Amino acid sequence: MTLARQKIVAFTGNTRRPSRSLNLAEAIARRIQAHMDADYLHVDVLSAGPGLGAALTRQQLTPEALAVVEAVEEADILIAVSPVYKGSYTGLFKHLFDFVDMDALIGRPVVVGATGGGPRHSLVVEHQMRPLFGFFSALTIPTAVYAEDASFEDDRLADPAVLARVEAAAIQCAQLAEAIGGRRRRGGRADEPESGRIIPLKG
Ligand SMILES: Cc1cc2nc3c(=O)[nH]c(=O)nc-3n(C[C@H](O)[C@H](O)[C@H](O)COP(=O)(O)O)c2cc1C
Repeated sequence: MTLARQKIVAFTGNTRRPSRSLNLAEAIARRIQAHMDADYLHVDVLSAGPGLGAALTRQQLTPEALAVVEAVEEADILIAVSPVYKGSYTGLFKHLFDFVDMDALIGRPVVVGATGGGPRHSLVVEHQMRPLFGFFSALTIPTAVYAEDASFEDDRLADPAVLARVEAAAIQCAQLAEAIGGRRRRGGRADEPESGRIIPLKG
């Protein structure tokens, strides 16, 4: 049996490029790829274009914006990183997830990360990012990664402590993704862990 390679999709909430959030997501993706065989695709708010913010329903999304929503829904592994804006993820980062099918991410490994100007809002990853993916019944990786402006040199992640967290998150993610892949090989579904089916909250 030929197995399709797993697909890592990074979605970042940056509204500019170059972007530290994009750089952090890319660093995480490269380290996951160092531990497992997987393809990598990056999409962000800018690839969705102005049609993302203008849409109030999924039917109103432009083809560019819908393609980003669908890329997120089709990820085997999702890396979700946002700059901190006013103490939270960016508005357009959340707006994208408001269009994501509520069953699409059940049981999917998700690495969460954020970048901010300083250390003050580092818990955004725990208090805002992680609960968002809890809603989707996704499997957030234990190590979340936060990087501040001082962690970068010329928009490149350079802080050894943050790079160590990237490595820890990548190893945990690869181990989980391989375990889920193993279940698929044995004929189980990725959203059906050995202990029983995950029951998503409806809402
Ligand atoms: C509108 C706006 C609001 C921001 N609010 C915060 C904030 O509340 N806390 C913080 O630590 N940094 C804040 N920042 C700084 C950015 O989060 C930080 O520079 C981030 O790394 C930028 O990421 P990017 O390069 O991916 O755009 C803000 C920046 C902008 C433009």
